[in-house]
Amino acid sequence: MQQRASSTHLATKAARALLDKVAGCAIGLDLELPIATGERRRRIYLDSTASTLRLGVVQDALDHYQPYYANTHSTVHFGARLSTQEYRWAHDMVLDFVGADKDRCTAFFVGSGTTGGMNRVAATLSQRMPGRDVVITSIMEHHSNDLPHRKYFKTVVHAPPECGATSMGCVDIKAIERALEANKGRVAYVSVTGVSNVTGIINPIREIAALAHAHGALMVVDAAQMIAHVPIRMSGNPDPAHDIDIVVFSGHKIYAPGSPGVVVARRELFEGGVPVEVGGGMVDDVWLDRFTPTAALPDREEAGTPNITGAIGLGAALYALHRIGMDTLFEEETELMQLALTKLSANPEIAIYGDTDTSRYPRAGALSFNVRGMHHALTAAILNDYFNIAVRNQCFCAHPYVREMVTEALAAADSELTAAELEALAEMQRGMVRASFGIYTTRADVETLAVALDDIAARRAFYEAQYEPTPAGDYQHKTFRFEPESVFNVRSAVDGWFERA
Ligand SMILES: Cc1ncc(COP(=O)(O)O)c(C=O)c1O
Repeated sequence: MQQRASSTHLATKAARALLDKVAGCAIGLDLELPIATGERRRRIYLDSTASTLRLGVVQDALDHYQPYYANTHSTVHFGARLSTQEYRWAHDMVLDFVGADKDRCTAFFVGSGTTGGMNRVAATLSQRMPGRDVVITSIMEHHSNDLPHRKYFKTVVHAPPECGATSMGCVDIKAIERALEANKGRVAYVSVTGVSNVTGIINPIREIAALAHAHGALMVVDAAQMIAHVPIRMSGNPDPAHDIDIVVFSGHKIYAPGSPGVVVARRELFEGGVPVEVGGGMVDDVWLDRFTPTAALPDREEAGTPNITGAIGLGAALYALHRIGMDTLFEEETELMQLALTKLSANPEIAIYGDTDTSRYPRAGALSFNVRGMHHALTAAILNDYFNIAVRNQCFCAHPYVREMVTEALAAADSELTAAELEALAEMQRGMVRASFGIYTTRADVETLAVALDDIAARRAFYEAQYEPTPAGDYQHKTFRFEPESVFNVRSAVDGWFERA
């Protein structure tokens, strides 16, 4: 296995040994695929912000669990009892992992990731906070931490990021304070991302929580990106004003299978009344003309058969990371991020988005860039086809933030542009390439990315000549084709099983 970061950090040797062990067991790290040069290359997976790879330790726990799998709504037989116990344990693990006070908080699983969780939060709080019809969020947000609030609340205020020395930094807390003042008594909650899924910039959530609380509003954190990279402490902060009221995240961003969404919240926010989702498992009794929702949390928020395997897999992943220690993981990743920023910014042909001064704006998990003058889709295609480096491109479901940053970069490059020209150019070139990290990302992976980008920038004409644009706005290699079917398809896998059985 490749060596991880240098040893300038404070992590204990034991924690580092655990980290190396867990990092090395990720499934898919050794994947080799044919590339455009005719060789086969090991894939470098730099798309963990979209979804992390599954860890072997998680898969192992699930393989051991699977023979006992049963529905948690059955209560008597052995498999049901075991499944219920482990499913309950997964809730406890979630509460522990985010440092939530178990007497005051509940954790529940919802469908479809953070998006499902945010929709539940917005729908529920919009019913329960009469007169509070404003939500404050930021322009840095993933659409999942924006559109649900727009749907359920009258007004959503988008706070801008700070202007850093070179580019945009974290969310501007003064703008949040101004919005709280301007909407005094009307703000239900402030909801910001802990870590940007575009730039990896970490937001000062504790300070924002203190402001929200001082104005009688709740603090909600979109922890989709924070969860796997930065330690979270929801309750019991030295200053209680820094406590977080609701944290939302997804299993697929933290090495678990499927995409269970998770909401961790102060219990009273989800008590009383009728939950947003109704059906089996959340009622005490039902008559033809009425029903009584159970008072028990988390059951009342988990209508229907839950994603039991996904939740248990998530519990296993959280426990594995807890054994290493999130502080250690954060330290390791801070070094990796610094290396990536240093390597990529050494090439003037690469434009990195967001202020790169990490002493002022620390980052985790992801960074986005463009090779100057090259379409993001072309850069991503070349990285994939010639280097087997998997990255994401486009706008990462954060259109307003990406639009602002691309516009800012174009304006900085050419101050002669009129506002209309700038807008048209930004619309045409909107998009970036994102490299994102997981526990298994090594220094060598980052160095390979930097070398690949240097090569792309240096031999731009060669690469450009190999591609043609597609009607969908991507770029396709003129001769090299990757046929997914030839590598894997479910039908052949099932046929193979029948042949072997
Ligand atoms: C910051 C952030 N919030 C929300 C989401 C949505 O998560 P999901 O796709 O699990 O619903 C994402 C996904 O990338 C994200 O990065």
